[in-house]
Amino acid sequence: MTDRYRTIIEPFRIHSVEPLRFLTEDERRVKVREAGYNLFNLHADDVLIDLLTDSGTGAMSRDQWAAIQHGDESYAGSPSWFVFLAAVQELFPFPHVIPTHQGRAAEKILFSAIAGPGNVVPNNTHFDTTRANVEYTGAEAIDLVIPEGHDPASDHPFKGNMDVEALEALLVEHGDDVPVVFVTITNNSGGGQPVSLENLRAVRTVCDRFAVPMFIDACRFAENAWFIKTREPGQTDRSVPDIVRDMAALADGMTMSAKKDPMANIGGWLALRDDALAERCRNLLILTEGFPTYGGLAGRDLEAIAQGLRECVDEHYLRYRIRSTAYLADALDRAGVPTVRPAGGHAVYLDARALLPHIEPTSYPGQSLAVALYEAGGIRGCEIGTVMFGQQPDGTERPAAMDLVRLAIPRRTYTQSHIDYVIEVVTDVASRAATLSPYRIVEQPAQLRHFTARFEPVR
Ligand code: F0G
Repeated sequence: MTDRYRTIIEPFRIHSVEPLRFLTEDERRVKVREAGYNLFNLHADDVLIDLLTDSGTGAMSRDQWAAIQHGDESYAGSPSWFVFLAAVQELFPFPHVIPTHQGRAAEKILFSAIAGPGNVVPNNTHFDTTRANVEYTGAEAIDLVIPEGHDPASDHPFKGNMDVEALEALLVEHGDDVPVVFVTITNNSGGGQPVSLENLRAVRTVCDRFAVPMFIDACRFAENAWFIKTREPGQTDRSVPDIVRDMAALADGMTMSAKKDPMANIGGWLALRDDALAERCRNLLILTEGFPTYGGLAGRDLEAIAQGLRECVDEHYLRYRIRSTAYLADALDRAGVPTVRPAGGHAVYLDARALLPHIEPTSYPGQSLAVALYEAGGIRGCEIGTVMFGQQPDGTERPAAMDLVRLAIPRRTYTQSHIDYVIEVVTDVASRAATLSPYRIVEQPAQLRHFTARFEPVR
């Protein structure tokens, strides 16, 4: 069937709908000014198409809602825990699985247990909460993605790969100070780009030589596996779950947010092989998250995640998912809007630095573009650039490697005509890019400033 007809359709039909609220452009200008030009401060019902994140925003399936009814809320040893555990271990056969309320709780627990002042943690690219959790312990977070990963125009098929030589050099110099090597699949902050199995194997080999454990930040593992299946030589005929198990087999552990590929609204976990470390992590879990058979979750959440894990490795779903992201990127490409190429799995990243050369990185071209997309069309994207990453632990500011605006696509939530509208708005804003203002920050916290900082345009 898929061979005879070209159109890739949504592999579902709609069963329950949510209304959208339409504001005028003038109304949106007022709303965003009141929000301090920070899109995180908006009321979500003032947003028309919400591409802020793909995290926890996906549409759950009929079967996930049904699974929620099976939720058993026993404090200890709930049947829902065993359903969850089996679904996780089916794909990630780690002996220890520690449920958390979301991904960053897993990060906090792991890094509290293994990192501290003087330590160095490499990653292809740390996600913002991962970096913050590493730095909070006093350790240093270092990004070692391959050079192509910093070039928005490079068409490398696995732009999320770790620079293995750079990792080796780091371990030669600081081996004793590196408690873990992390690989983020897909590499969210580097454009949602995948990591190849070959690269994971090479990282593993280097880690073995220096006796350092390797962990994966696996939020978008199913999308990464689909890219491996469709792009990596020799992988085409393998099933997605098999590829996922291969990725897991190379790692000593994982942190996970169930709000991404597993299509749950909340949840996460930490999984690992090391018994002693698992015990320390469980003790920390009990302090802040809960008993080890529920972590920070209700029994019903555990059930929804288990069902989502089964659905997210379905090939019809993944073909539609990856194609619909590429559909947006390809249309913007044809319209001459610079984006990170090739398209990521969960998001399209607009290259704000290239589109707005008149705005210095420290005047936040990504923020400027994100605000303009909201004002013009009610689209909420997310700056991933100097606002998010420019603030240094010592309080100074440095331009980030790239200034991007991420349009993250919630899973199974928007239709093709929603995306056609997004294409129209982005193309319109891009055509008057030279008129967009630089911004300055008028108020900011000491860490993770992008969530709460307030801005004003510099006219
Ligand atoms: N790691 C990666 C690669 C992520 O993308 C995220 C979250 C986390 C860890 C933390 O997980 O939100 O469950 O605590 N990313 C979201 C995003 C927030 O918008 O990309 P969490």
